[in-house]
This record gives sequence, structure tokens and C-alpha cells, in this order.
Amino acid sequence: MKIDVLTLFAGMFAGPLDESIIRRARDAGLLKLAIHNLRDYAHDRHKTVDDKPFGGGPGMLLKPEPIFEAVEKLAGEKTRVILLSPSGRKFNQSIARELAEAGDLLLITGHYEGFDERIRQELADDELSIGDYVLTNGALPAMVVIDAVTRLLPGVLGDDQSSQEESFSEGLLEYPQYTRPAEFRGMKVPEVLLSGNHAEIARWRAEQARVRTQERRPDLIRKTE
Ligand SMILES: C[S@@+](CC[C@H](N)C(=O)[O-])C[C@H]1O[C@@H](n2cnc3c(N)ncnc32)[C@H](O)[C@@H]1O
Repeated sequence: MKIDVLTLFAGMFAGPLDESIIRRARDAGLLKLAIHNLRDYAHDRHKTVDDKPFGGGPGMLLKPEPIFEAVEKLAGEKTRVILLSPSGRKFNQSIARELAEAGDLLLITGHYEGFDERIRQELADDELSIGDYVLTNGALPAMVVIDAVTRLLPGVLGDDQSSQEESFSEGLLEYPQYTRPAEFRGMKVPEVLLSGNHAEIARWRAEQARVRTQERRPDLIRKTE
């Protein structure tokens, strides 16, 4: 998969996407990531990418011209163009799965007060929010999307890190897990996990996932019913 990102803060991407599983996915060629500086698409002397909103109001908006030009240059016919914005549909594991199968992505990250509406109308195939709060710019939301999508690409996670049985994969939170020692400071691992009875263990895990989800995220259970 190829992911292009359009940003004013290319430097923010160095580090988080150069470590661990994402780094290995890039090294293996499973993810091709390209970070583009929006200012490279502004042509005036000051590399202006923003302007005041018509009708007044606080702050500045990202202008259409540099973003249109960048998208026309970077997006292929099948590229899904995604705006990061607090007004988007709320990103979750099933959207991550959808994007992991979608082909190439172009993520457009905002700054200031956001985007001129024509960018939203004409360029965006999708608009994603990472949650009901406002960040200073779209770099962190883009990195969240890249991380969640990349780990679902075929071949990125080894068998020992399967994404099949984790939180949200079945619409439920993950069941409790334990490793050695079997007893630590008086806290014992549930007997069933030491029993070697795989059917019993699967039953216990399914029940624990259901109980945990009911306690912490009953909204997820309502969605699967
Ligand atoms: C300060 S925010 C703009 C907020 C905008 N005025 C509003 O009320 O929705 C600047 C940029 O950060 C990004 N951003 C901030 N919070 C976000 C979130 N929760 N999800 C996705 N992107 C976000 C977007 O790209 C946005 O254009």
C-alpha cells in the first residue's frame, strides 16, 4: 500500500513512523509512505497556504489552490483522498480494516481553523475524525490512521501478533491475558488458563470478553445486537 500525506509539519512524522512494526513494514516494502510539505505547492514569495475566512471570524483557513494542486499531482485514479477533521466520521477498527483493503491513500492534514469548504466538497472521498476533541493540526490524527491501517496489511503482523483476537475484532473488547509467573504477589492466574483444556479456555475467554465489554463499553454490545 502507498500512503501519501500532505502536511505543514513534515518533521512531526519523523520518529513515530520510523520505529517498531511500522518501520519493519516500510523496510519490507509492505507500506510505502511519502510525506509532502504543503508549502511546496504554494507559489508566491511567502509560500502562503492560508487566508482569512470570508464573512469574518477568528483564525485562518487553508486555501484551496495549493491543496488542489497537490492532490492533482499526487493522487492516482484509485487513490482514496481523506481529510482529517473533527467533523469527519469517527475512526474505528472497522474503518481501519476498510482502508487496509482500499488501495492507496492520500491523507490531507489541516491546521489553523481548518479547510476552505471547496476542498471538502471537491477533493475528499472521505473525512475522518480520531475522536471528539480538537488537536492543533492533523499530523497526529494522520499518524493514528497510518498506524492502525498498516498493522492490518497482510504480512505486517507475525502469527504471534495476530490482529484476529484483539479488541474490536469481534465487536468486543479483548479478554484478560496473563503470562508467567502463575502466581505473583499473591495474585493467581485463573485456573482454567493453566488447565490445557482448549475448549474451556475458549469459552472462558469469550465470556470474559463479553463481561468486560458490557462493563466498560456497553455501546459496542448494542452495535453487535
Ligand atoms: C485546530 S483544528 C481545526 C478545528 C476546526 N476549526 C473545527 O472546529 O473543527 C486544525 C486541524 O487539526 C486536525 N484535527 C484536529 N482535531 C482533529 C480530530 N479530532 N480528528 C482529526 N483531525 C483533527 C484537522 O486536520 C484540522 O483541520
